[in-house]
Amino acid sequence: MQTVTIKVNGEAFKESVPERLLLVDFLRERLALTGTHVACTHEGVCGACTVHLDGDAVKSCLMLAVQADGHEITTVEGLAKGDELTALQKAFREEHGLQCGFCTPGILMNMTDFLKHNPNPTDDEIRMGLIGNLCRCTGYVHIVRAVRTAAKMLAASAA
Ligand code: FES
Ligand code: FES
Repeated sequence: MQTVTIKVNGEAFKESVPERLLLVDFLRERLALTGTHVACTHEGVCGACTVHLDGDAVKSCLMLAVQADGHEITTVEGLAKGDELTALQKAFREEHGLQCGFCTPGILMNMTDFLKHNPNPTDDEIRMGLIGNLCRCTGYVHIVRAVRTAAKMLAASAA
Protein backbone atom coordinates (compact mmCIF):
# COMPACT_ATOMS: atom_id res chain seq x y z
CA MET A 1 0.00 0.00 0.00
CA GLN A 2 1.10 3.55 -0.62
CA THR A 3 -0.34 6.83 0.63
CA VAL A 4 -1.17 9.31 -2.10
CA THR A 5 -2.54 12.83 -2.09
CA ILE A 6 -4.49 13.61 -5.23
CA LYS A 7 -6.53 16.71 -5.88
CA VAL A 8 -9.73 15.76 -7.70
CA ASN A 9 -12.13 18.43 -8.98
CA GLY A 10 -10.54 20.92 -6.59
CA GLU A 11 -10.69 18.74 -3.47
CA ALA A 12 -7.58 17.04 -2.01
CA PHE A 13 -7.90 13.34 -1.13
CA LYS A 14 -5.30 11.54 0.97
CA GLU A 15 -5.74 7.78 0.55
CA SER A 16 -3.83 4.60 1.08
CA VAL A 17 -3.95 2.62 -2.17
CA PRO A 18 -2.50 -0.61 -3.54
CA GLU A 19 0.43 0.13 -5.86
CA ARG A 20 -1.37 -1.59 -8.75
CA LEU A 21 -4.69 0.26 -8.38
CA LEU A 22 -5.60 1.96 -11.66
CA LEU A 23 -6.47 5.64 -11.58
CA VAL A 24 -9.87 4.89 -13.15
CA ASP A 25 -10.68 2.44 -10.35
CA PHE A 26 -9.50 4.94 -7.73
CA LEU A 27 -11.87 7.56 -9.17
CA ARG A 28 -14.84 5.23 -9.59
CA GLU A 29 -14.52 2.96 -6.57
CA ARG A 30 -12.83 5.10 -3.93
CA LEU A 31 -14.32 8.48 -4.80
CA ALA A 32 -17.59 7.28 -6.41
CA LEU A 33 -16.93 9.50 -9.43
CA THR A 34 -18.68 7.14 -11.80
CA GLY A 35 -18.96 9.62 -14.65
CA THR A 36 -15.56 8.29 -15.72
CA HIS A 37 -16.49 5.16 -17.68
CA VAL A 38 -14.78 1.92 -18.70
CA ALA A 39 -15.70 0.43 -22.06
CA CYS A 40 -12.69 -1.59 -23.18
CA THR A 41 -11.54 -3.55 -20.12
CA HIS A 42 -8.63 -1.19 -19.52
CA GLU A 43 -6.96 -1.61 -22.90
CA GLY A 44 -6.65 2.08 -23.73
CA VAL A 45 -8.71 1.91 -26.91
CA CYS A 46 -12.19 3.30 -26.08
CA GLY A 47 -11.37 6.64 -24.44
CA ALA A 48 -14.39 6.40 -22.10
CA CYS A 49 -12.10 6.76 -19.08
CA THR A 50 -10.50 10.05 -20.20
CA VAL A 51 -9.84 12.61 -17.46
CA HIS A 52 -7.51 15.60 -17.15
CA LEU A 53 -4.17 15.27 -15.38
CA ASP A 54 -2.94 18.79 -14.62
CA GLY A 55 -5.16 20.00 -17.46
CA ASP A 56 -4.11 17.45 -20.09
CA ALA A 57 -6.37 14.65 -21.31
CA VAL A 58 -5.18 11.18 -20.25
CA LYS A 59 -6.76 7.73 -20.25
CA SER A 60 -7.18 6.88 -16.61
CA CYS A 61 -7.15 3.13 -17.30
CA LEU A 62 -3.57 3.45 -18.49
CA MET A 63 -2.33 5.11 -15.29
CA LEU A 64 -1.86 3.92 -11.75
CA ALA A 65 -3.34 5.96 -8.92
CA VAL A 66 0.15 6.26 -7.42
CA GLN A 67 1.32 8.01 -10.61
CA ALA A 68 -1.23 10.75 -9.91
CA ASP A 69 0.22 11.41 -6.45
CA GLY A 70 0.75 15.16 -6.05
CA HIS A 71 -1.18 15.94 -9.22
CA GLU A 72 -4.54 17.46 -10.02
CA ILE A 73 -7.25 15.42 -11.70
CA THR A 74 -10.42 16.76 -13.28
CA THR A 75 -13.23 14.37 -14.11
CA VAL A 76 -16.38 15.03 -16.09
CA GLU A 77 -18.10 15.89 -12.80
CA GLY A 78 -15.69 18.82 -12.45
CA LEU A 79 -16.32 20.44 -15.85
CA ALA A 80 -19.46 22.44 -15.08
CA LYS A 81 -19.32 25.13 -12.45
CA GLY A 82 -22.46 24.42 -10.47
CA ASP A 83 -25.35 24.59 -12.92
CA GLU A 84 -23.27 26.45 -15.51
CA LEU A 85 -22.32 24.00 -18.24
CA THR A 86 -19.21 24.55 -20.33
CA ALA A 87 -19.61 25.64 -23.96
CA LEU A 88 -18.78 22.10 -25.07
CA GLN A 89 -21.42 20.59 -22.81
CA LYS A 90 -24.00 23.09 -24.06
CA ALA A 91 -23.04 22.34 -27.66
CA PHE A 92 -23.44 18.58 -27.11
CA ARG A 93 -26.92 19.24 -25.76
CA GLU A 94 -27.87 21.60 -28.60
CA GLU A 95 -26.46 19.47 -31.40
CA HIS A 96 -27.62 16.10 -30.03
CA GLY A 97 -24.02 14.97 -29.66
CA LEU A 98 -25.00 11.88 -27.70
CA GLN A 99 -27.33 8.94 -27.93
CA CYS A 100 -26.85 6.51 -25.02
CA GLY A 101 -24.22 8.87 -23.59
CA PHE A 102 -21.80 6.19 -22.45
CA CYS A 103 -18.89 7.57 -24.47
CA THR A 104 -19.79 11.20 -23.75
CA PRO A 105 -17.78 11.88 -20.57
CA GLY A 106 -14.56 10.71 -22.22
CA ILE A 107 -15.28 12.69 -25.37
CA LEU A 108 -16.05 15.83 -23.37
CA MET A 109 -12.78 15.53 -21.47
CA ASN A 110 -10.75 14.83 -24.60
CA MET A 111 -12.38 17.56 -26.69
CA THR A 112 -12.11 20.14 -23.89
CA ASP A 113 -8.34 19.64 -24.00
CA PHE A 114 -8.39 19.52 -27.83
CA LEU A 115 -10.17 22.89 -28.14
CA LYS A 116 -7.73 24.44 -25.71
CA HIS A 117 -4.89 23.61 -28.10
CA ASN A 118 -6.86 24.05 -31.35
CA PRO A 119 -9.61 26.64 -30.82
CA ASN A 120 -10.53 26.87 -34.52
CA PRO A 121 -10.40 23.29 -35.83
CA THR A 122 -11.51 21.98 -39.21
CA ASP A 123 -13.91 19.04 -39.27
CA ASP A 124 -11.02 16.77 -40.31
CA GLU A 125 -8.98 17.96 -37.34
CA ILE A 126 -11.94 17.27 -35.03
CA ARG A 127 -12.25 13.76 -36.47
CA MET A 128 -8.53 13.19 -35.94
CA GLY A 129 -8.88 14.51 -32.40
CA LEU A 130 -11.64 11.96 -31.77
CA ILE A 131 -9.55 9.05 -32.97
CA GLY A 132 -9.02 7.77 -29.42
CA ASN A 133 -12.72 7.84 -28.49
CA LEU A 134 -15.10 5.11 -29.58
CA CYS A 135 -18.83 5.79 -29.83
CA ARG A 136 -20.69 2.52 -30.19
CA CYS A 137 -23.87 4.38 -31.11
CA THR A 138 -21.81 5.81 -34.00
CA GLY A 139 -23.21 9.31 -33.71
CA TYR A 140 -20.02 10.88 -34.98
CA VAL A 141 -21.69 13.36 -37.33
CA HIS A 142 -23.45 15.00 -34.39
CA ILE A 143 -20.37 14.77 -32.19
CA VAL A 144 -18.23 16.58 -34.79
CA ARG A 145 -20.98 19.18 -35.21
CA ALA A 146 -21.12 19.70 -31.44
CA VAL A 147 -17.36 20.27 -31.21
CA ARG A 148 -17.53 22.72 -34.13
CA THR A 149 -20.40 24.58 -32.44
CA ALA A 150 -18.49 24.70 -29.16
CA ALA A 151 -15.50 26.23 -30.96
CA LYS A 152 -17.78 28.95 -32.37
CA MET A 153 -19.34 29.59 -28.93
CA LEU A 154 -15.90 29.91 -27.34
CA ALA A 155 -14.69 32.25 -30.09
CA ALA A 156 -17.80 34.42 -29.68
CA SER A 157 -17.39 34.61 -25.91
CA ALA A 158 -13.71 35.58 -26.29
CA ALA A 159 -14.46 38.36 -28.83
S1 FES B 1 -11.37 2.10 -20.40
FE1 FES B 1 -9.67 3.40 -20.75
S2 FES B 1 -9.49 3.53 -22.89
FE2 FES B 1 -11.15 2.13 -22.56
S1 FES C 1 -23.54 7.86 -27.52
FE1 FES C 1 -23.68 5.73 -27.11
S2 FES C 1 -21.61 5.07 -27.15
FE2 FES C 1 -21.52 7.09 -27.84
